[in-house]
Amino acid sequence: MTDRLQELAGRRRKTMAGGGEKRVERQHALGKWTARERVDALFDPGTFVELDLFTTHRSTLFGMDRAESPADGVVTGYGAVEGRLVYAYAQDFTVLGGSLGEMHAGKIHKVQDLALKSGAPIVGIADSGGARIQEGIDALNGYGEIFRRNTLASGVVPQISVIVGPAAGGAVYSPAITDFVLMAEGIGQMYITGPQVIESVTGEKVSHEELGGAHTHARRSGNAHLTFATEQELFAGLRRLLRFLPSNNLASPPQAEPKDPLEGSAERLRGVVPEDANKPYDVRDVIQGLVDQGDFLELQPEFARNLVIGFGRVEGHAVAIIGNQPKVLAGCLDIDASDKLARFVRFADAFSIPVITFVDTPGYLPGTKQEYGGIIRHGAKVLYAYSEATVPKVSVVLRKAYGGAYLAMCSRSLGADAVLAFPTAEVAVMGPDGAANIIFRGEIEGAEDPVAERKRLVETYRAEFASPYVAAAHGYVDQVIDPAELRPAVARTLWALRQKREERPAKKHGNIPL
Ligand code: HXC
Repeated sequence: MTDRLQELAGRRRKTMAGGGEKRVERQHALGKWTARERVDALFDPGTFVELDLFTTHRSTLFGMDRAESPADGVVTGYGAVEGRLVYAYAQDFTVLGGSLGEMHAGKIHKVQDLALKSGAPIVGIADSGGARIQEGIDALNGYGEIFRRNTLASGVVPQISVIVGPAAGGAVYSPAITDFVLMAEGIGQMYITGPQVIESVTGEKVSHEELGGAHTHARRSGNAHLTFATEQELFAGLRRLLRFLPSNNLASPPQAEPKDPLEGSAERLRGVVPEDANKPYDVRDVIQGLVDQGDFLELQPEFARNLVIGFGRVEGHAVAIIGNQPKVLAGCLDIDASDKLARFVRFADAFSIPVITFVDTPGYLPGTKQEYGGIIRHGAKVLYAYSEATVPKVSVVLRKAYGGAYLAMCSRSLGADAVLAFPTAEVAVMGPDGAANIIFRGEIEGAEDPVAERKRLVETYRAEFASPYVAAAHGYVDQVIDPAELRPAVARTLWALRQKREERPAKKHGNIPL
């Protein structure tokens, strides 16, 4: 080997060792992988091309003139995930705590720019102490430039954040702008201000994990879309998620070979939605009956559980599925469910993934907590997102579709291209009990046996209005289907809508209610 080649091999070896053996050992002792181990887990074997390996910092203050920063604490590059191009960066906590300095940020900006220009998804793997304190304002500028690029790329290429270490302060805003956030339990933490600052300002005591761990963001804040017990499971889950996504807003999601016949085990679907409008069931049983091989990737499964969202496939084509969950809060829409729904619809619309909506909701959740919390503006997002979306929109009314929530859940009025209904559907301005109390009050009060009269009138109302047939007679429902026909009916509808084109008025951008 020539001297030059030896020098190259030596430099590579030294730089790729990151912060050295001791720090790598500490990383492993904490149950964490190194940045390079993470990149290997993300990409198909042998496909990762690392960029800017020899970049280092160029600051001199606070002892930085003597500090080494191999690769400046971040591994960046591209590779293949199941054969498709994906860009990535992984912060290396073993080098200056993965802190973000000027050059570290510059490497991230470069892969962000390349991903956008090449129309490829980008994955950001966060494990960092935040802005490199010694580099001050240059580090801050580095963050600002990341956020701006995240925003420009939003709706052009899928952006995914992986939180496998600390992500504190303003650093959390990049993940928040990206489309999906994946966290490893006991390893990833996100917060704006840490426990020490909180205690000094408010006196409140809270642990790092309780404040910003995976469970907190999966259940309470809704910031995490998927959480995993280990890094190994996380990267397998990330590859699964990528399989449902197109590379960019002009491409189609990868098509899987449809294996199971459309008719399948359809009979089973007949028993899922109970005729009794007050009996709960799990909407995921209906979803599973629709998607190919029952393969449904649920997102935010622990947040706003009264609404289910996720990806599946019908005849091999990716679909975005939304469903009210009658098992939780009777499937009412509330603030969190509205946020969850609206952002998911906007993602699907931006990336041309058809939206299928399963409707079974008595309405928006009543109460002062919801009203004071802004259910009006949050609920309005649902109407806005559905109305704005130009992808194929197919709604299936399973049971209750009352009032404002009927309209909001992708009704014909909001531009559904197809509305199907089960025979159990009740499409009406309000539920029979509430309606009877108002419109038949006189008759009920004047009756000899008000209880019996009320019961009779509720049944009259139910028979007249609480069915799919009035809506079908007026053209708001296109097809009333046997639940056993769900899969073929939705598949044919999607097939018929595959070339759908719909224009919106030209504008700079709309102003979604927040
Ligand atoms: C420079 C940093 C650093 C930082 C950690 N290190 N964070 N160096 N800038 N921000 C260094 C440490 O000095 C240490 O170096 C090594 O990384 C490992 O850190 P430890 O503290 O030993 O690790 P650990 O005990 O696991 O604690 C991790 C930590 C802690 C909780 C993240 O390091 C920490 O609190 N860091 C500071 C967090 C912070 O306040 N960041 C600035 C936020 S402001 P040695 O050489 O000793 O091993 C911000 C603004 C962004 O980010 C705004 C954008 C809009």
